[in-house]
Order: sequence, then C-alpha cells, then structure tokens
Amino acid sequence: MNKVVLITGGSSGIGLHAAKLFQSKNWKVAATMRTPEKAIDLQKIVDIECLKLDVTDVESIKAAIAATLEKFGRIDAVVNNAGYGLLGAFEAATPEQIERQFETNVFGLMNVCREILPYFREQKRGYIVNVASVGGRMTFPASSLYNSTKWAVEGFSESLQYEVEQFNIRVKIIEPGPIKTDFYGRSQDLTKREGLTAYDSFVSRVMETMNKGGTDAPDGEVVAQTIFTAVTDGTKQLRYGANTKGILTARRLLPDNLFFALIRKVILK
Ligand SMILES: NC(=O)c1ccc[n+]([C@@H]2O[C@H](COP(=O)([O-])OP(=O)(O)OC[C@H]3O[C@@H](n4cnc5c(N)ncnc54)[C@H](OP(=O)(O)O)[C@@H]3O)[C@@H](O)[C@H]2O)c1
Repeated sequence: MNKVVLITGGSSGIGLHAAKLFQSKNWKVAATMRTPEKAIDLQKIVDIECLKLDVTDVESIKAAIAATLEKFGRIDAVVNNAGYGLLGAFEAATPEQIERQFETNVFGLMNVCREILPYFREQKRGYIVNVASVGGRMTFPASSLYNSTKWAVEGFSESLQYEVEQFNIRVKIIEPGPIKTDFYGRSQDLTKREGLTAYDSFVSRVMETMNKGGTDAPDGEVVAQTIFTAVTDGTKQLRYGANTKGILTARRLLPDNLFFALIRKVILK
C-alpha cells in the first residue's frame, strides 16, 4: 500500500521539491498551501492532492488532515516546512512582524504537530519532520528573530521526541544550509522602522552576502532528498543536515570566539 505524506508550504521551494520527490517514490502526497488554486501545474500530477492549509489557522489544518485521510485513507508522515525569514535589525522590527514570524515558524508548526498527534498515536506510528535550519544551531548577523524561531523549533522537536517515541512516532529535524528558493525573494520580510537609519549600512552588508549565498546555492531538491531519507532510513537519528557546507561541524568544534570571528569574516567582510 502506498504511503502518504502531508507537506506544509508545498507551493514553492523545498516544499514543492519534496512533494514531487515523494510522488516520484510512489508516495501519495497532500501538498498543502495557502493558495492551492494557484498550483495549476502541481494539481495535474497524479497522486498529488493540493489542499488549503495556513499554519496559523487551526481550522484549515484540521480540514486538510481530514481531507487527506478522506482522499488517501492514511497519513504516514507530516513535513512541517512552511516558514520564512524576518531579517534585519531587531530594533527596527514591529511587534506585528515579530508576532507573524513566531506565529508561522513556531506556533504554526506546533499547531500542525498538535493536530496530527492524536491520529499518529491512534495508529501507533508516524513521522513528524520539522524543517529547521543550520540557523537553528548557530546564528547569523541581522537574523536574531529568524534564528530565535529556528532555535525554538530545534528545542521543541528535540524534547518532543522523548514523549512520542513510546507511541512509535519519530521526530526528525532537517537543517538546511543556503538553498536557492523564494526564501531570498518574495518570502523575505525585512525589519524597517521609519526614521531609524543607524543599522542600515550593517544590514545592507549582511543582506548582500546572505542573499548572494542563497542565490548561488543548490535548489530544494537536496533538502527534499534529505527529508525522504529521514522518513525511510529506519533509524532513530534526530538531525539531518542538507548543504550545510561543514558549518555545523565548525560550530561544534570551534570555541565561541573563534566561531564568531569566522562568521564576522565571512558575512561582515
Ligand atoms: N532557503 C533556505 O536557504 C533555507 C535554509 C534553511 C531553512 N529553510 C526553511 O525551509 C522552509 C521552506 O522555505 P523555502 O526555502 O522553500 O522558501 P519558500 O520557497 O519561500 O517557501 C516557503 C513556503 O512557506 C509557505 N508559508 C509561509 N507562511 C505560511 C503559512 N502561514 N501557512 C502555510 N504556508 C506558509 C509559503 O507559502 P506561500 O506560497 O503561500 O507564500 C511557501 O510555500 C522554511 O521553513 C525555511 O525557514 C530555508
């Protein structure tokens, strides 16, 4: 019997690649997104069902899970991929921007976990795959808000594994490095406070390096492959990197002062 995956943020980037990859591996796919009516090409692919799901709207999560079960009869894995970066100086962020960042990247991901857990517990198995970032294990300049959401995802996921493993539910964390997606374009939100210019040159230096890193990076296929490995390798491994370029090894091995000097050299050049 074909396995079934539900993916959030399936409209573009990593989520879109994951939807197509799982389909190519004979999984049935609920590719969820905020505006499924725009996913004209994806809708044409057999065994991919495009469903409406906004991670900040619990009713839409319940409805998408119900529709997936109705259509495919089961769910084996949920991929919490929806998210975006609020970047720039912290002081320039509005409370609304900060709330939206946490509502999406952290509370939205928790919403999906809370809604799928009763079902996974009942069927005594399931995979919860949370897309964090290398920025969930280290930080980048001008990224305090985005990094804090991904650190939250890391802490949440790492602890969650202990309470759900008794039900044969596995938690997996995916930690991509730079990946060429709309993360560096339309999805990006920048902090900007009227009249506050003190951080402008610092932020523009950082954004130039980071956005260049993103646009020179591989596309979402490498992360899709990693997500697929995470739900099929049969191991209890929690964390999986994708295009991390050795940065997490450097973070682990170097003392703080040397690692921060490296970040300054690479990003604040
Ligand atoms: N690209 C990178 O370098 C990189 C590195 C590490 C981690 N990541 C993480 O990878 C994940 C996917 O990002 P991406 O790189 O593939 O960027 P992307 O192409 O911009 O995709 C982001 C996806 O999230 C969706 N989304 C945003 N808010 C949502 C909400 N409230 N409810 C449901 N969906 C929502 C977007 O939907 P719409 O089409 O409706 O906007 C879009 O499908 C994110 O969690 C990101 O933090 C990315």
